[in-house]
Amino acid sequence: MTRHFLRDDDLSQAEQSAILDIADQMKADRWGTKPLAGPQSVAVIFDKSSTRTRVSFHVGISDLGGSPLIISTANSQLGGKETPSDTARVLERMVSAIVWRTYGQAGLEEMAADTTVPVVNALSDDFHPCQLLADLLTIREHRGTLAGQTVAFIGDGASNMAQSYLLAGATAGMHVRVAAPAEFSPSPQVVTDAEHRSAETGGSVLVVTDPVAAVAGADVVVTDTWVSMGKESEKQSRLDTFSGYRVDDALMAHAADDAVFMHCLPADRGYEVTAEVIDGPRSIIWDEAENRLHAQKALLAWLLAANGANGANGANGANGANSANAANAATAAATA
Ligand code: CP
Repeated sequence: MTRHFLRDDDLSQAEQSAILDIADQMKADRWGTKPLAGPQSVAVIFDKSSTRTRVSFHVGISDLGGSPLIISTANSQLGGKETPSDTARVLERMVSAIVWRTYGQAGLEEMAADTTVPVVNALSDDFHPCQLLADLLTIREHRGTLAGQTVAFIGDGASNMAQSYLLAGATAGMHVRVAAPAEFSPSPQVVTDAEHRSAETGGSVLVVTDPVAAVAGADVVVTDTWVSMGKESEKQSRLDTFSGYRVDDALMAHAADDAVFMHCLPADRGYEVTAEVIDGPRSIIWDEAENRLHAQKALLAWLLAANGANGANGANGANGANSANAANAATAAATA
């Protein structure tokens, strides 16, 4: 079975930790590992706009010795003229991995079901798992550990970031709190999945409507835009609904004294967060943005090792290598 990364709980706690370890190594020695040498090509497809994801995958694939192939759906057949399945079956003959930023999770699942190369979710309506790897890497850098840390996400609980925090945080053994208006609660199935994962890792999950209850004593406070891509037509009603969920100095005062603030960007200062907080001393957003590069490089190296990738351009490399071996192989690659 080919390993993909479509949602945060596709990784076990040990696998997630191994990828973060590889990211640490790659950050310390940025050009020291070339698992994509050849160069092997990686297709990076965008249905939506992007700055961080586009640049970090382009630069990261190049750092790994590979050739990034950045594709806009508007200029390809994928945007309605060809199915994800057919697209995947063509691309697997030519590239070593497929990265896709899209809308529905179902398209990613269809693509992954029909290809032998790893498919990576670069943001969907439901999840943003690459961002969460970067966020976890950043939290670990600043807090020293993940397990036992309390993170409070404030805002749209049904957003891809909130839902990824539930799954990725639970996988890491964190205590994940989400504060959102009731009509913007996370998917009940995602909450259930996060609770099951928390039961394995010692983490916990709490969904509330009161932002102060979520932030009380938290180690990490997170928010994201109130108007995600695709929700522009709802802008005014969303601004009204979320007006009590702004992260400002008064809300941060309820967090732990040494709490940090995070935002995946782009930000709308004055809406979901004040300038005083996002540009203040507790904000670690620039480390968070940089870590997209290191986390995604580690993810690609790990996935290629996990799938036993044996070369560029259409190698049907998925050989069922177990994840522990894959992690070891990727770690060895990272330290070579
Ligand atoms: N955080 C994030 O995904 O940024 P971009 O939309 O710029 O890629």
